[in-house]
Amino acid sequence: MSVDIAIDLGTSNTRIYIAGKGKFLDEPSVVTINLDNDDVIAVGHDAYSMMGRTSQRLSTIEPIVGGVISDFYLVENMIKIQLGKANVSRVVKPRVVACIPGEITDVERRAVVNSILSIGVRSVSLIEASKAAAIGAGLDIRSPHGRLVLDIGGGTTDIAVISLGDISVSRSMKVAGNSFDEEIIRYVRRKYNLIIGKVTAQKAKFEIGAVIKPEAEKKYTVKGRNTVTGLPQAVEVSNTELFEDLSEIAIQIASQVQDVLEETPPELVGDIYKDGIVLTGGGSLIYGLDKLIGSQVKIDVHIADNPSDCVINGCGYSLKYIGQEEIDENGAVNPLSMPY
Ligand SMILES: Nc1ncnc2c1ncn2[C@@H]1O[C@H](COP(=O)(O)OP(=O)(O)OP(=O)(O)O)[C@@H](O)[C@H]1O
Ligand SMILES: [Mg+2]
Repeated sequence: MSVDIAIDLGTSNTRIYIAGKGKFLDEPSVVTINLDNDDVIAVGHDAYSMMGRTSQRLSTIEPIVGGVISDFYLVENMIKIQLGKANVSRVVKPRVVACIPGEITDVERRAVVNSILSIGVRSVSLIEASKAAAIGAGLDIRSPHGRLVLDIGGGTTDIAVISLGDISVSRSMKVAGNSFDEEIIRYVRRKYNLIIGKVTAQKAKFEIGAVIKPEAEKKYTVKGRNTVTGLPQAVEVSNTELFEDLSEIAIQIASQVQDVLEETPPELVGDIYKDGIVLTGGGSLIYGLDKLIGSQVKIDVHIADNPSDCVINGCGYSLKYIGQEEIDENGAVNPLSMPY
């Protein structure tokens, strides 16, 4: 028997869902290759643990940038290896639902479809990240009631107003979770003349990242290389010194939400005002982001349960729409689209 699967190829994480079982795999979208012959040495967690630590012969690459595939060969290999762990039947090929960011070119969409077709599947249906995120957050996107959902991933933020299964107004921006890491790298370099790596910056964000004034001071030690002496150095950084710089990124996201609201039809704005805005995606977990966006746009903001898994769970849930009619008897649009 064939088992249908959902795949979310995220900038930071690759997630796979198997129908009837739920989320099966959640690993960093990272690949390590041997530069001599381009052989793939490691993927996922194994590759992530080598990031910034490889020798001259090995290179660790993130093949998905800003939500789109930047290296087709690596993504194809990564999916093959990761899906191999699922032990999916090779006899009857699976049908796949894959998630794509809101604003994506035809070429980028084709790359996603082809990379999944290359592993041998029966069909690929696509779902936009915002729709999947809303479904995964437990919202009934096929009702006529308007909902405003943000999916703040590693490389992209998708903002969408959804009603009757379709997107009414949307924005996609390349400012997201990883932008906070980049800002921490810039801050530490400017303030302490210290160069730190991406992995260190992300750990610092988990520990002391904040976009509003923290209630209590917390410090975290980062290690890197001093730009003046060239020597290794450790510096203590606190959440209270970081939050102002990080809040600027959060304000950029809030201002896009504001733009979306300005373009939203008034009836739907009324619904959103009543229900509040829902945040999904790992990027929504930085301290204070819900409060900051809420105070900027003057609407309540809630973080969905388990925000990092909303998109993959929504993709998984929407497997049931494969092959169903385009528009149902209530006028709701099928959230899936065929790539052709
Ligand atoms: N506890 C946390 N605090 C702050 N940021 C977090 C936390 N957990 C995860 N993140 C951030 O969430 C981002 C990853 O989120 P997610 O897994 O939703 O992205 P993705 O789906 O891979 O990327 P995209 O949707 O942009 O292609 C990373 O920037 C990560 O650092
Ligand atoms: Mg994502």
